[in-house]
Amino acid sequence: MTTIKSLSTDSSKKSILPNQYFTLNTDKDVWTLTNEAASLAATNSRNKDREMLNLGQGFFSYSPPDFIIKDVQRVVEIPLVNQYSPTRGRPNLINELIKLYQPFYGNNVKLDKDNVTVHTGANEAIFSCLIGLLNKGDEVIVFEPFFDQYISNIELAGGKIRYVPINPPKELNNRVTTGKEWEIDWDILDQSINENTKAMILNTPHNPIGKVFTREELLRLGDICVKHNILIIADEVYEHLYFTPEFTRIATLSPEIAQLTLSVGSAGKSFAATGWRLGWVISLNKELLNYVAKAHTRICFASPSPFQEAVALALPQATKLNYFKNMQQEYIKKFKILTDAFDKLNLPYTIAEGSYFICANFVNVKIPKDYPFPEELLSKGKDFRISYWLMNELGIVAIPPTEFYIKEHEHAAENLLRFAVCKDDEYLVKAAERFQLLKEYL
Ligand SMILES: Cc1ncc(COP(=O)(O)O)c(C=O)c1O
Repeated sequence: MTTIKSLSTDSSKKSILPNQYFTLNTDKDVWTLTNEAASLAATNSRNKDREMLNLGQGFFSYSPPDFIIKDVQRVVEIPLVNQYSPTRGRPNLINELIKLYQPFYGNNVKLDKDNVTVHTGANEAIFSCLIGLLNKGDEVIVFEPFFDQYISNIELAGGKIRYVPINPPKELNNRVTTGKEWEIDWDILDQSINENTKAMILNTPHNPIGKVFTREELLRLGDICVKHNILIIADEVYEHLYFTPEFTRIATLSPEIAQLTLSVGSAGKSFAATGWRLGWVISLNKELLNYVAKAHTRICFASPSPFQEAVALALPQATKLNYFKNMQQEYIKKFKILTDAFDKLNLPYTIAEGSYFICANFVNVKIPKDYPFPEELLSKGKDFRISYWLMNELGIVAIPPTEFYIKEHEHAAENLLRFAVCKDDEYLVKAAERFQLLKEYL
């Protein structure tokens, strides 16, 4: 039996028990583990005279666009912009979000302020959806691989997770594959639905595999949700980063699907400003959204005011400057810098249809069997050891994607590493050159 930690130092006093969820889940999260290991790797004899190239966590190496930086500088000068915002978001931002999203819903619906809530990052938006709508024992369908925060967010809200695989292509280890070839296991999805199924979290474009779900896939999912009355939390934080001819938003597929859907966006991802912690939820179902708003009020009351005002000013400029379309073109170039490097090495990878991640396959990289891995990595997926080896031997930091799987299914991604390309081109070119050192190990 697991013993729960007590914070008491004096045994004569009643013990102070921290939240059981955290005392039972004591493994370090992948971000902490990777960042700590990378700091240590930076001091080894191979790395100490060269720059560590961090393609791990998805933060940008470059600044948000000039126009939005200027907007922030301007708005902090306004006294009230430094004070609390209305809990559902500042009117200027809500109005601009309505203008941004209205065209996707067509002329038959008219979005208004009650269709929007503003949050402290997409993560808090998703957490508010779950806290606002789940009761203890409600089940949530999560597709594997998953963004790791979903898991704790569902469990903290009292929910139970049903994992449904997005199966990798059979030839994942042998050739370059596409996001499209990763397919939902429809049979398992079917078997996972029962009377307790309350919600489904769907991420498109997908972190980490870069899949952009097709209209057909989304229609099939939407129809299942309508049939069983299942809520859809559509995590669309990479909505502007797709390289397919179209990006379909599940909420726009039918009025019935729209009534079940909460669509989540992120200013951090859209404006290279992950530290601003600003996100939102859009839903045609105002009643559902009211509960999301109530949860948000209790979690953090309101979200950062200056960033809300700055994003409100930036959105129309982004449209005018074609910022999102230009960003797509820039990212096609960024991906190519890395895929050219992988091609030279004959390293298979999954072509990203969207998001800013690419998964490369290290199955052919020969890592010495007796390599001195730290104890804490021995029970983890093989990719944790590949990632450790790569940062120590090449000075390149990546994320091991088995963290986005449950233990029983992690073999699906055990040879993969996830690289973030949200870095400036020069940085990516340096990484591409550094990758060529892998030749020695192939
Ligand atoms: C799939 C996915 N959803 C949500 C988030 C959280 O976004 P935010 O930084 O706006 O909280 C991330 C961040 O990495 C993500 O990759």
